Amino acid sequence: MLDAPDDFDGWRDAARRLAIAGVEPDHVTWQVQGESGDLFGGAPLPPAPERSAFSVPRAFVALAETTILHSDAERFALLYQLLTRLRDQPRLLEDKADPLLRRIDGLAKAVRRDIHKMRAFVRFREVEEDGAARFVAWFEPDHHIVRANAGFFMRRFATMRWSILTPKISIHWDGETLREGPGATRADAPEGDPVEALWKGYYAAIFNPARLKTGAMLSEMPKKYWRNLPEAALIPDLVAGAQAREAAMIARAPRAPAQPAGGKGSAGANSKTAWAAVREEAMACTRCPLHQGATQTVFGEGPLDAPLMFIGEQPGDQEDQAGRPFVGPAGQLLDQALIEAGVDRARAYVTNAVKHFKFEARGKRRIHQTPDAGEVQACRWWLTKELDIVRPRLVVALGATAARAMLGKAVTISRTRGAAIALDHGAEGWVTVHPSYLLRIPDEAKKAEERARFVEDLRVIGERVKALG
Ligand code: URA
Repeated sequence: MLDAPDDFDGWRDAARRLAIAGVEPDHVTWQVQGESGDLFGGAPLPPAPERSAFSVPRAFVALAETTILHSDAERFALLYQLLTRLRDQPRLLEDKADPLLRRIDGLAKAVRRDIHKMRAFVRFREVEEDGAARFVAWFEPDHHIVRANAGFFMRRFATMRWSILTPKISIHWDGETLREGPGATRADAPEGDPVEALWKGYYAAIFNPARLKTGAMLSEMPKKYWRNLPEAALIPDLVAGAQAREAAMIARAPRAPAQPAGGKGSAGANSKTAWAAVREEAMACTRCPLHQGATQTVFGEGPLDAPLMFIGEQPGDQEDQAGRPFVGPAGQLLDQALIEAGVDRARAYVTNAVKHFKFEARGKRRIHQTPDAGEVQACRWWLTKELDIVRPRLVVALGATAARAMLGKAVTISRTRGAAIALDHGAEGWVTVHPSYLLRIPDEAKKAEERARFVEDLRVIGERVKALG
């Protein structure tokens, strides 16, 4: 019997004892105090082992800690099944095609998204309490994430007195101590208050269009969150001016003085804030169905003042797991080709047209699938933000999908390769092949020839970046 629906320590202790005692998953019933039924069918837990005879990968512990927060009643049993299988298959966590692991990964992903949503959509309203202000918010999470998220709100609103009310639990902070209370109803939370007018004014003034996801706001933010946002009433007007505001905001971003050689200057604090905000939102992206199968959003990375940006197609299997672009075989080929071409990857921003891995599961393998035009279009939202923030002098599309994302239309590599194309912000676009294309060429002589052409493209691009300053 677990003490609470998010009782990870209780689950871990019980699971360890049961696994060491060799208890089969089918013989265990997991229950949460106050939720119904008897304790493990009445049987006591096996005794605690003196020393743990059972070690599990750290990644499993992290996965279990997140998955426990899901509202699916089967989560404890699924995790225990995975735990027992890890004994005989220590590398099981690498097998992303395993149905059990996929199911658990899906639960963990939903929990992470719920955590992001709570951070993004909780709005406080001021009430008076004992002559002092208390800020109260109402939120309806999908999963048991409230305790796990409390630290975030304590850090962010450390000096305020606040309460977050949810249907199952409420948490209260007085500036020093966090207290828990029972669940509440929407009626317990203040509806409108004097602070709301202030908040709306503040929101309109600081409204950061780089953080605005018009389509996503409507599709991703369920109505229950939408209703909680006092600024929601302002959004239609703000959206109307968003593009102009965004351009103005990015143009205002402080940049270091231009370098003597006409260099691009370093990224300002606004760029960093805007990039971090956009990345955070992309982590919870549901703009197209690809988020359902992938492990995580793989956002771009690199200096925010990079003069050069590379766009790939989409993360591959390894990138999906690592959460970073171009770290697998195609990335290694790209790295080597860049070295030979004299281009420093560390000075480039590297991203993908599509930020989630698209694949077909075949047995234990995840076979890459090319994203379709709709998926590329949905993900252009994020690419446009990256381009607006980084404002590279030169953008390189690696392959046809990247070229489609960069240009907004389908093009043929052979016709567009080798010449500059004018892009927004005065940047130059260049198109070349994708490194995976080179990896797939079966004939060694042809492969060497195509690889040399690719290196030559990169060398020309490197020269061009230098010329652009
Ligand atoms: N292929 C891509 O297009 N991008 C990556 O990040 C990895 C492989």
